[in-house]
Amino acid sequence: MNKQAILKKTVLFVKKSLVGEGTGHDWWHIERVYNNARTINKKEKADQFIIDLAVLLHDVGDRKVIGKAEDDYTIAENFLKANKVPGEVIDQVLFIIKNMSFSHSLNKRRTDASKEFHIVQDADRLDALGAIGIARAFAFGGSKHRPLYDPTKKPQPINTTANYRKLESSSFHHFYEKILLLKDLMNTPTGTSIAKQRHQYLQAYMKQFLLEWEGRK
Ligand code: ADP
Ligand code: NI
Repeated sequence: MNKQAILKKTVLFVKKSLVGEGTGHDWWHIERVYNNARTINKKEKADQFIIDLAVLLHDVGDRKVIGKAEDDYTIAENFLKANKVPGEVIDQVLFIIKNMSFSHSLNKRRTDASKEFHIVQDADRLDALGAIGIARAFAFGGSKHRPLYDPTKKPQPINTTANYRKLESSSFHHFYEKILLLKDLMNTPTGTSIAKQRHQYLQAYMKQFLLEWEGRK
């Protein structure tokens, strides 16, 4: 198996699949998650090929990307099979992309999963935090025609996949409903330490946002 050739082909396939994506899952999201995962794996020393494939393919079948009601994992699976990737690699990569999303795991940690799973999940979560996470939340809300904030509404608790998908309050509410929970859900020590910094940055931003909202600063 020529790993470099497969990765090169995967990059081209993913770029093509994500063209025009407007909900925060475009190619640049993949590239940032790829860089996050490399940073984390410098310390963790897990299988970089599995990590790279999972990062690259993790959003090609996302229901928001394909505009369907459910995620479609056969897009990644068929691509890997067509490129003769060994079965055990395909199994590991598919396990990661099927189980890593917030809408799947909610506030539970997957202690039974592989090191590679934990790294890819952390890398993806980091992209929902910090300066980039703020930009993505407002981009996502804008794509759904939601207001930046609506102080008449209360943040809703997320306890099922269905009610996570139904949240419609405002982009700012999303920070309370999901993003502020992420730092306590991280898996790896490196991911946790980066998440803490990004969390602090977000908290400072939220404080300033609310002061500006009321014309107090
Ligand atoms: P996951 O792939 O883990 O299910 P999503 O695809 O729901 O995560 O999230 C992708 C990006 O869009 C993240 O940065 C996330 O914070 C943002 N996002 C998701 N839902 C909302 C929402 N209701 N309001 C604002 N941003 C959102
Ligand atoms: Ni992602």
